[in-house]
Amino acid sequence: MTTMSTGTTMNTGHVRHGSNIGQNFTRREAMLKVTGTARFAADNHPAAMLYAVMAVSSVARGWVTSLDVAAAKAHPGVVEVMTPENAPKLAQHPDDKTSPFSFRIDVLQDARVRYANQPIAVVIAESLEAATEGALLLAPAYAREAVAVGLDDGEWFVPDAVGVGSPPRQGHGDVEAGLRDAARRVDATYATPPHYHNAMEPHAIVAQWDGDTLQLDMPSQGMAIAQGRLAALFGIEPADIVIRSPYLGGGFGGKGLVAGPQVLGIMAAKLVGKPVKLVMRREQLYGPVGHRGMTRQHMRLGADADGGLTAIDHHVVTATSRFDDFFEPSAGVSHALYATPALSTRYDAVRVDTGTPLFVRAPGVASGSVALEAAIDELAEACGMDPLAFRLKNYAETEPLSGKPFTSKALRECYARGAARFGWANRPLAPRAMTDAAGLLTGWGIGTATFPAHMFQANARAEIRADGSGVVDIGAHDMGQGAWTALAQIAADGLSLAMDRLTFHMGTSDLPDGGMAGGSSHTATAGVAIHNATGAAIAALAELAMRDEKSPLFGAGNFGVVSRDGHLYRRDDESRGESYAAILTRAGRASVEGRGQGASDPDVMKKYAAHAHGAVFAEVKVDPDLGQIRATRLVGAFAAGRVINPRMVESQYLGGMIWGVSLALLEEAIMDARTGRPVNGNLADYHVPVNADIPSIEAILVDEHDELVNALGIKGVGEMGITGTAGAIVNAIWHATGVRVRSMPVTLDKLI
Ligand code: MOS
Repeated sequence: MTTMSTGTTMNTGHVRHGSNIGQNFTRREAMLKVTGTARFAADNHPAAMLYAVMAVSSVARGWVTSLDVAAAKAHPGVVEVMTPENAPKLAQHPDDKTSPFSFRIDVLQDARVRYANQPIAVVIAESLEAATEGALLLAPAYAREAVAVGLDDGEWFVPDAVGVGSPPRQGHGDVEAGLRDAARRVDATYATPPHYHNAMEPHAIVAQWDGDTLQLDMPSQGMAIAQGRLAALFGIEPADIVIRSPYLGGGFGGKGLVAGPQVLGIMAAKLVGKPVKLVMRREQLYGPVGHRGMTRQHMRLGADADGGLTAIDHHVVTATSRFDDFFEPSAGVSHALYATPALSTRYDAVRVDTGTPLFVRAPGVASGSVALEAAIDELAEACGMDPLAFRLKNYAETEPLSGKPFTSKALRECYARGAARFGWANRPLAPRAMTDAAGLLTGWGIGTATFPAHMFQANARAEIRADGSGVVDIGAHDMGQGAWTALAQIAADGLSLAMDRLTFHMGTSDLPDGGMAGGSSHTATAGVAIHNATGAAIAALAELAMRDEKSPLFGAGNFGVVSRDGHLYRRDDESRGESYAAILTRAGRASVEGRGQGASDPDVMKKYAAHAHGAVFAEVKVDPDLGQIRATRLVGAFAAGRVINPRMVESQYLGGMIWGVSLALLEEAIMDARTGRPVNGNLADYHVPVNADIPSIEAILVDEHDELVNALGIKGVGEMGITGTAGAIVNAIWHATGVRVRSMPVTLDKLI
């Protein structure tokens, strides 16, 4: 990273002055999206392109014993059929584990079947129709083996690590003593089902080889990671792979890593020597591209006579595939939220015949939070306390597992603002105490929201040009969250320019690695990289001016300069300054450049814990005869440091809360225990909320100034909204009905 020259005022831990951050800019690509002119991966049609369609396994475990390749090849328009017989062999076996992010993928290296919907062949044709029809003619036969799909269908084992590298046994204090000595206890088991990402845009790829270089149009939340994996698989250099991923129609973690079917598209292009497009069909997404693993969570909590927590024991049983490891890290949330003298989190796991689970929107935190928030609510009830009062008594002032102070914390204010807006003070303590005019049982519930403030690594490049304009380059990703706009706001402020004086490039892998858009970390990580790169460019410009006798800034080094509106001014005398254009033109320079990195500060993270926080309040109405449940009103109050674009941050919170409704009331993938196939692997039967499911929803942005978390004070907003919401709804259902349903989703059959 270019270091700052002395004498400038940048990079002192505060954002530079500017008028772009904090403004409600409309998405820069909004017009392109609403008019259908934004070019998503599958919209690309290079000359001579062929269409590839996967055939997938209808059995969950066994071998493919025959495929009628001749019939498919004889179909008009079919060019080639790729099977394990003729699939290009790879430079690295796809089962080799070379990094925590290299998950095993199924790309026709043998005839083994490891889960339902696994690719077993790819038909390549001149039209989508011909490829689709060709795939139907393959008539596969299988040797089947017995399948396991449930948490009790195999032997439990202790995973080496859960999530990405977290220990499977953690805690402090004597939990058994804490439970034994408690005046009130909860001992309850909660279940969450498998969830599939179901982004509107399926995984897709358009792949073109030119010798050993590869051009890819492919939605990606992590282009540099994908380049690395693909380079290893195909035996080429990462720099010889260009990925274009300007837009994603939803990522949700499912596009964080290059998916097996995308690799198949590249192999198909290699096999036929022409560009190939492969787009997954909706039902094919239920298998090879990851899902949220199911959990069963045994919660044991104790409280003393005054309602103070004495112990939390959070035991998770979860499932991974039979051939690879990813464990939904559901107990992590118990490390982060409530103060307890004794804490234990533990995992056991079982192998089942499904695809390998993966990160799905708030991995672990979503599924764990609903169990923790429901158990906390049950303990509040056991103590005879209002559930908000119970949380106010027990929320942590420091991170419970590590004991480190939070970089900042506005949770108390989130509780207060949300409760006031919702009208919580009028809530009767007892359940089944409210009925509306239509005779519907009405209940109010609360859930605490939290998400760790992760940062990965990112790089950026900034340039100031002789015409006074700026350019910022970063290989960042817009998966619908608004990165195109929010990161440009940071870039424009970094260069002290209006947005229309900035050219902002992102979304392709030939730009500096912008890091992964995951873990709600992207704005912080890419934003800090941009902040540092633009700071370096300003510093380089200031250096030029301060050494130039003709500049009013000559010799200002001892006092420093400030940048504003495309000008630099002496810090000690702001009447003395000049424009960027004047400095560069006089120096005969076309531009100056700066580079910067974004990552968390290890010294700060040694001493502090960084989390975002929030509180969600929910009203539900339940039909007393039919058990039909509606979430009728949701209010969330969230604090996540600096808000770059309030409109988009609000939108992220609302989206997260809707995912929470989905977790509590709707979403569930059901696997057939006999066949191992998804019973509801389509968007008609796999339920997600529609507008009619969300009558009233509000997100309050609570101000928070976090001077420690990073130079811009940004924490993630993408995933936190899910975390409090599902618990709030489940707790509201109890308050409406007096029934504790502990198995997600809470559907009417479980109430009556
Ligand atoms: Mo997210 S599951 O980190 O895309």
